[in-house]
Amino acid sequence: MGTGIGFGKVILFNEHFVVHGIPAIVSAIGANTTALVERQNGSGAEIKDNRPETPGYKAEKLAEQKESFDKMLRFMGIDTQHNHFKVILEGDLIAASGVGASAASCAAIARAFSDELGLGFSDERVNEVAYEGEKGYHGTPSGIDNTAATYGGLIWYKREANSQHMERMKLKKPVEIVMGNTGIVADTKVVVAGVKERREKEPEKYAPVFENAAQLVQNARKQLETFDLQELGTSMNKNHALLQEIGVSCNELDMLVDLARDCGAFGAKMTGTGRGGYMVALTPDSDLQERVASEIEKKGFQALRTMIGI
Ligand code: MEV
Repeated sequence: MGTGIGFGKVILFNEHFVVHGIPAIVSAIGANTTALVERQNGSGAEIKDNRPETPGYKAEKLAEQKESFDKMLRFMGIDTQHNHFKVILEGDLIAASGVGASAASCAAIARAFSDELGLGFSDERVNEVAYEGEKGYHGTPSGIDNTAATYGGLIWYKREANSQHMERMKLKKPVEIVMGNTGIVADTKVVVAGVKERREKEPEKYAPVFENAAQLVQNARKQLETFDLQELGTSMNKNHALLQEIGVSCNELDMLVDLARDCGAFGAKMTGTGRGGYMVALTPDSDLQERVASEIEKKGFQALRTMIGI
């Protein structure tokens, strides 16, 4: 049996903008997906998905998961004529929008096949396979999710014309965050396409927002490097406002973001695709983290207490 892992992630700055070539910052979180691959007699391949989930997520993503799996099998050149492969997905990362669930599963599957078949994939190769898999979930992935899922850690990421640029960043020490789950399953394909369409329709409105996002992420990088968490939180608040301007937030996300700020979070924003999924609050120290998480839970939403920079 072959095994593999993929890291869950939180985008700290510039989801969506990253699709259009603007740098972004992403961190792995302390939750993962694991894949086990069993080779059996017969032909074909199947996934048994045992991951915990936001209700409805797996059913909604089933067709995309199948497309993604087929793409990865083809890309890896796996022979499913003379073998049957059973993939079991597990781990503590909740299958939900906003935590890189699809990318984590793709990286885990790539690693598990490499392990089972002795393919000797480097991280770079795992990342390429996971990127191919991500195309099954949405047509034009920037590559940030599979990069975070493959490498983990804290990453500065920029999509370039025909390549991807990543730099590892270091945090002085890990920092507590809370991720609040709206429970709404988002469709990345639709939300990403919506931004493109609106940007083309209203270039004069969108140009300054994109310029601000490009400047903001440079400031955020310095704040992470100098461990200026107050200013970092303020930058997260500003990033949320830019994401609202490009129309990817929603009432539930805005409500959880406001709630986290009212409870003392240094900053809060939506994360990932938006229009549902997760928000993230910067809550350095475990008392603040607990206060924000329990207020989110009191409102009936699920809260994930985790860390960035691990
Ligand atoms: C989704 O986690 C992040 C997006 O920026 C899409 C992408 O980068 O491919 C919305």
